[in-house]
Amino acid sequence: MSATAVIGLQWGDEAKGKIVHILADEHDIVVRYQGGNNAGHTVVCEGQTYKLSLLPVGMLRPGVVSVIATGTVINPQVLLAEIDQLRSRNIPVGENLLISDRAHVILPYHVAEDAVLEDNRGESAIGTTRRGIGTCYRDKAGRAHAIRMGDLYHVESFQSRLREIIAQKNSYLRALCPAYEPLDASKVAEEYLGYARLLKPHVTNTTSFLHKSLAAGKKLLFEGAQGSLLDLDHGTFPYVTSSNSGSGIHTGSGVSERHISRMIGVVKSYTTRVGGGSFPTELNNEIGQHIREVGREFGTVTGRPRRCGWFDAVACGHGALISGVDCIAVTLLDVLSQLDQIQVCTAYEIDGERTTDFPSHVEDLARARAVYKTLPGWKQDISHIRKLADFPREARAYLDTLAELIGQPVQIVSVGPDRVQTIFCDRA
Ligand code: GDP
Ligand code: IMO
Ligand code: MG
Repeated sequence: MSATAVIGLQWGDEAKGKIVHILADEHDIVVRYQGGNNAGHTVVCEGQTYKLSLLPVGMLRPGVVSVIATGTVINPQVLLAEIDQLRSRNIPVGENLLISDRAHVILPYHVAEDAVLEDNRGESAIGTTRRGIGTCYRDKAGRAHAIRMGDLYHVESFQSRLREIIAQKNSYLRALCPAYEPLDASKVAEEYLGYARLLKPHVTNTTSFLHKSLAAGKKLLFEGAQGSLLDLDHGTFPYVTSSNSGSGIHTGSGVSERHISRMIGVVKSYTTRVGGGSFPTELNNEIGQHIREVGREFGTVTGRPRRCGWFDAVACGHGALISGVDCIAVTLLDVLSQLDQIQVCTAYEIDGERTTDFPSHVEDLARARAVYKTLPGWKQDISHIRKLADFPREARAYLDTLAELIGQPVQIVSVGPDRVQTIFCDRA
């Protein structure tokens, strides 16, 4: 077995990008298997900061092949801009990038519809990234209006299908939003055929490539996007993303999870959430504000301030179960350094009943009251620490508590954005 997976166990932004960047050194191939340019993965290395959205973090490591696999949704315009951005920083993009011919394409009407639907939802808006992610996945499930990367190389059928689809989208979107500007099908087709020409050297059957690579003994690293609690099936529906961000490796890549020997769950040492939906440990007070400022909790993709709160072991434990992780990476531990006391949610009380089961229904989650355990803070800078033994006793106790509550050992601790600010517990 020669594959590793890195999966966020909360509502995204757990610092998966940083962990993938470090682990990429011991792997040959990094695979994004779900989501699209709703993701924002930040990497800090040798004084440089990189923000990747659809491109796998493997792009930043020489000798590593990056794969954008079948379960992703691709906005070719955004992808090409991201590629240009890397090239402008002297990072090569060539044979090191493969894109699945089965991945679905985000078209301009998907982006328009995402915005229109969000605006029309008013108070109950999901708070999507408005990148057309959910609307593209919906068309994938519906099939009639779906376009895959491979379709862009079957020019005539693509043009005629797009004409039909755009005629329907125009009338539907006009009805939903009178200000909507109808799209011209031939212009969109021409634009996308241009993108297709530029991307052609990268587009291939990635499923076959991954299986041949496994057979040749190559090491795969699966880079999760979003987090388990945003999983379409197992997350806080409907305030979720439209892919299986907790459980989608097999469907998204075509590679069975039985090839994976290490599943790493990435957990922030507190909780953040962007967009709508219940958040039982949310701190709408000066502590939440303090965490947001110290942790620089503003969205990589949209710049929105992230909602901040205490660590929630009920929510995160659910994330760990559905993702099937066997160890955890605890990140942003340094952000908690100045607090006198730190609280951890160990259970919920719903209508007077105590439970550690994560509720299925959003209204039950909304009524959940967090039950807390209070731990002492450590009040000293830990961002320079590189050995587990050098941590203040209270910080170690905090890590032990998280491991015990999630039921998985801590394998990695991150104490700052830079890749050097990382402790591997079995090497420390
Ligand atoms: P991802 O989407 O899971 O890859 O996470 P993001 O990149 O969206 O958000 C994580 C943010 O925290 C980024 O700005 C990282 O540079 C930063 N970061 C990562 N690890 C640490 C850490 O241990 N401490 C601090 N203070 N920041 C970190
Ligand atoms: P990374 O990979 C945090 C959230 C959005 C919104 C919901 C649905 O950086 O962790 P969508 O545009 O996907 O339909 O929005 O999901 N969301 C994320 N939150 N990190 C992400 O990715 C996210 N990707 C989507 O804020 O609440
Ligand atoms: Mg992010």
